[in-house]
Amino acid sequence: MKAQTTSLHGGYGKESGTGATAVPIFQTVAYAHGTAEELADIFEGRTPGYIYTRIANPTTYALELRLAELEGGIGCIATSSGMAAITTVAVSLLKSGDHIVSASGIFGGTVSLFKNVLSRFGVESTLVDAADKVQFSRAVTERTKLVFIETIGNPQMVVPDVPAIAAIAREANIPLVVDNTVTTPFLFKAAEYGADLIIHSTSKFINGHGTAIGGAIIDTGNYNWRNGLFEDIKKLTKKAGQMAFMAHLRNLIYRDLGCCPSPLNSFLMIQGLESLGLRMNRHCSNAKKLAVFLQGHQKAKWINYPGLSASPDFQKVKKLFGGKGGGLLTFSLGDKRRAFKFIDSVKLAKNLANFGDAKTLVIHPSSTIFHEFSSSEKLELGVTEDMIRVSTGIEDFEDIKNDFEQAIEKAWED
Ligand SMILES: Cc1ncc(COP(=O)(O)O)c(C=O)c1O
Repeated sequence: MKAQTTSLHGGYGKESGTGATAVPIFQTVAYAHGTAEELADIFEGRTPGYIYTRIANPTTYALELRLAELEGGIGCIATSSGMAAITTVAVSLLKSGDHIVSASGIFGGTVSLFKNVLSRFGVESTLVDAADKVQFSRAVTERTKLVFIETIGNPQMVVPDVPAIAAIAREANIPLVVDNTVTTPFLFKAAEYGADLIIHSTSKFINGHGTAIGGAIIDTGNYNWRNGLFEDIKKLTKKAGQMAFMAHLRNLIYRDLGCCPSPLNSFLMIQGLESLGLRMNRHCSNAKKLAVFLQGHQKAKWINYPGLSASPDFQKVKKLFGGKGGGLLTFSLGDKRRAFKFIDSVKLAKNLANFGDAKTLVIHPSSTIFHEFSSSEKLELGVTEDMIRVSTGIEDFEDIKNDFEQAIEKAWED
């Protein structure tokens, strides 16, 4: 099936036995079984079945199947948030003494997890310029166990050369983890370009309406766990083959971290997925129009949107994302004071810490998402004081433009 069809039908057929066309919400903690032996068999993995929603749930499972299919992966585990997905991957692969090589200019929460949380458990990380593949190969050491990138760095908006970085990771036998939140499978087929594991914050475009927090981990099947760096997963391949990583998560890490989504939130993600393709087209076309408008606006000092032909990343956008630059852009009105005045003056756009909502959103990253970072760290992450981030919604473009036009004028009034 093609992506739009998969997003409507993938992972769910006649399972409910009722003919319900929407995936039912199995709002339950646990699952009763007829005999003690039956439940014991499920615990032992001798027969398939549900035990407890922290481990698996039928609504969440439908979401997992659909996401795996959309990403061309062999398996998926849905989590309670995007951060939970990244944490679960990190805990499943790393131990004290290990090292992460990560693109810089990515989501502040991920940087903080690497720098402030994992460091407490003896895991070091090196951030490198996402635009410079040479820096990735230089940063890899024999202790490196994970390479991490975002497809379009949020908020630096740099598009890494994914196939080149995948080749570097493959050469060193290190899994490449690709956060595909900003592009979604409708713009970027990460598995086809060498991603080993794919991360989503489903709270963003997949949910699409700002109604639920969630995340997902997809194993693309590209990493050979049999010959991998991870002894415990390697052992599991004897029984589980290429599904060893999924088994490692489901039967140990995910089970024990306790970061499952609520069944209701899984339902909301499934509902969001149904219109994801249509919304992404509209997010991208509105963002492109807004970028062109801002590019031609005398009072906008700079604009960063990889979908603009003037962007240094445009060739990569053409090659990797079919020419679509995504729904996010950043721009400047010269300084922080004007950025604040602009945000205070928009009437349609909402000032909040999220993106991928159907509604247009704006934020001043430096004083919000990145507020706890030092000036030099912000600089390294590409977060400047004058930066305004926009998540372009699916409204009629004229209304977005009019809102921005009047707010830019107000920002420039003394
Ligand atoms: C690219 C990216 N990945 C992951 C996350 C974390 O996701 P969540 O907020 O669902 O935990 C975010 C959050 O903004 C993000 O922007």
